[in-house]
Amino acid sequence: MTTFSYAAGSAREVATGLLVVPVFEGPEPGPGVRETRLLDAYTAARHTGKKGEHLLVTKRRGDRFAADAVLLVGVGPKDGFDANAMRRVLGRVAGTGRRFGAVATTFAQAAGARQATEAVQACAEGMGLGAYRFDRYRSDPDGTAITKVTVVGSARWDAKAMKAAVKRAGTIVEAVCWARDLVNTPAGDLPPAALADAAKAMAKQAEVTCKVWTETQLKAGGFNGILGVGKGSANPPRMIELTYRGAGRRKPVGLVGKGITFDSGGLSLKPGDAMETMKCDMGGAAAMLATIKAAAALKLKVNIHAAIACSENMPSGTAQRPGDVITHRGGTTSEVLNTDAEGRLVMADALAYLAEGNPELIIDAATLTGACMVALGPDITGAMGTDDDLVRRIVAAGATVGEPTWQLPLHAAYRSMIESKVADIKNIGKRWGGAITAGLFLREFVGDTPWCHLDIAGPAFRESADDLGPAGATGVPIRTLIRFLEEHAAA
Ligand code: BES
Ligand code: MN
Ligand code: ZN
Repeated sequence: MTTFSYAAGSAREVATGLLVVPVFEGPEPGPGVRETRLLDAYTAARHTGKKGEHLLVTKRRGDRFAADAVLLVGVGPKDGFDANAMRRVLGRVAGTGRRFGAVATTFAQAAGARQATEAVQACAEGMGLGAYRFDRYRSDPDGTAITKVTVVGSARWDAKAMKAAVKRAGTIVEAVCWARDLVNTPAGDLPPAALADAAKAMAKQAEVTCKVWTETQLKAGGFNGILGVGKGSANPPRMIELTYRGAGRRKPVGLVGKGITFDSGGLSLKPGDAMETMKCDMGGAAAMLATIKAAAALKLKVNIHAAIACSENMPSGTAQRPGDVITHRGGTTSEVLNTDAEGRLVMADALAYLAEGNPELIIDAATLTGACMVALGPDITGAMGTDDDLVRRIVAAGATVGEPTWQLPLHAAYRSMIESKVADIKNIGKRWGGAITAGLFLREFVGDTPWCHLDIAGPAFRESADDLGPAGATGVPIRTLIRFLEEHAAA
């Protein structure tokens, strides 16, 4: 566990393992650099402050700083150095920070007073997220870790507000890392019942109400999408229902997550290489669980009602077949023409169930379509919905926290692509526009509730490391949702 703290004053006096200070292109010394008297060493290395030009200096006798070492980090032009850039750059150097245990940074001081809170939070998040590793399954973990993060701010800033920002960052980092662990855990070790157990343990600790629907209860409730997808697996499905109350009698925000603990494709079996990362198919579920965990810890003034649909999609003699028809919760029928388009089938039941409770709005997150990855690439979440203002607010929250999100249109004419010859709707469209036809399928189940769907097939799980963490689970879109909920609570 990492502790996060805030300090104001001289960078030179911060007792820490590694002090991280920025150098702008020029080179122009950023906050804290002059006090360390290390700019000469930096320029002597022929560095000019370009992005990625770093110099690590370990302390020798006579050095005028308290840290064991100082990392001078080239961050590029001064005017592009905003909170998002701070988060990313610190995320990248966090790996070095792990070797020193305690890290501190003056980065936030490069922000103006108006951006101070945002910058302080981003710096703490960058260090915490970038230091994440998943080594539970290694027999020789490297043993390093960041144990303490100190954000060094300006003495002119409101220390109370800055301390709150650092604390908020710590809560968010903990939730994101918790979700990453769940997603990175091999599917063989995390069937639906185990995911539900993890949710229950989280709920108990967070003081959130949690009900886990068993297979029998799902049958009685008519959740035949969740059951149909799970039919081929030896590991029975579950639905996790969570209720958080932070806003008295205000209508709840509905959250739905796709919790396919493994997606083999079912009888419409995926090719082997396409299955390699399919433990990630509960990324939406993990993100929604982590969002609730953080919302409760932050005591956000919102109510949340969540339904997380968990099945394992496997081929077997008991699996659902192409051509089978499902009667979903609420009575809508769907024809299953491709068992690999399973996400929408389980999401349908959960969306219909939440809509019955008449929430203020519903947001869902799902690793739903390869087509969304084709459209937007590995970094960007696709957003679709029935309420443009809601979608716009979520896209804006994503931009603020550095989780890029882009709206795709729920083009009405494409509804004809999912017309079925035998049922109300079919679960695949035509070749093109697959992210949109998946969105149009989901829309059939939300009624009049304002709704936003987030297709996170690309950004939920990365093939290679990026600034904010190693290859594997990312925790997208937890930080977006937390920011949205904070703003929603204030609205
Ligand atoms: N879980 C996949 C989507 C996915 C693909 C997530 C790549 C992450 C990375 C989903 O269940 C799926 O298989 N979708 C199909 C739908 C198709 C059969 C209509 C797809 O995208 O190919
Ligand atoms: Mn699939
Ligand atoms: Zn899937």
